[in-house]
Amino acid sequence: MIIAPSILSADFGKLAESVALVKEAKWLHIDIMDGHFVPNISIGPLVVRGLRPYTTQILDTHLMISNANEYIPQFIKAGSDRITFHIEAVEDPTVTIKLIREHGAKVGISIKPGTPVSAVAKWIPFIDQILVMSVEPGFGGQEFMMNSSLKIMEINDLRKNLNKDLLIVVDGGINNITSKFCKEAGADVLVAGSYIFNSKDPKERMESLR
Ligand code: DX5
Ligand code: ZN
Repeated sequence: MIIAPSILSADFGKLAESVALVKEAKWLHIDIMDGHFVPNISIGPLVVRGLRPYTTQILDTHLMISNANEYIPQFIKAGSDRITFHIEAVEDPTVTIKLIREHGAKVGISIKPGTPVSAVAKWIPFIDQILVMSVEPGFGGQEFMMNSSLKIMEINDLRKNLNKDLLIVVDGGINNITSKFCKEAGADVLVAGSYIFNSKDPKERMESLR
């Protein structure tokens, strides 16, 4: 199981130090919000660029923005290794997938809790990961939505049928209990923000998720 701490719950006043607390994690999850696709604003490519020299972790960048195509090149140049966009936010996923590939990053598509797996099924052969949102995107600290487990199972079946290398990422409300549901359903990557960072011992929290 890959653990991806979400820096949304980190201390932005001392971001590099916060990130050092979770240096054992293979991935670092970076939430990008534009105040338009989601009702919150977070950070942009400048912060990705600032963070890049401080870690060799995979920078897993979750775009919750409307104009994804316009900003994708900037994020990859800034140091993002993997870019996940929302299926609900782009006009033509084929164009966005191509753009991410051309700039040399891995591709992910995310679905909100209300979006069915069938909305992304068609693009599975062309991407590296699917991110299942298990809360409404926009804020950390929300409660895990149980229907996400069913979606994970559905994606797990699809990838088996297609014999396709695809990572299933789950994001939102992950803790030591909900992580078990995700694991049983077939998830490969768990994104966790508040559970890891709102603790005196982030390392112990990561181990408890694994
Ligand atoms: C929410 C973000 C998540 C968020 C998860 O829109 O995509 O990555 O940081 O936070 P927790 O783990 O607190 O639910
Ligand atoms: Zn996220």
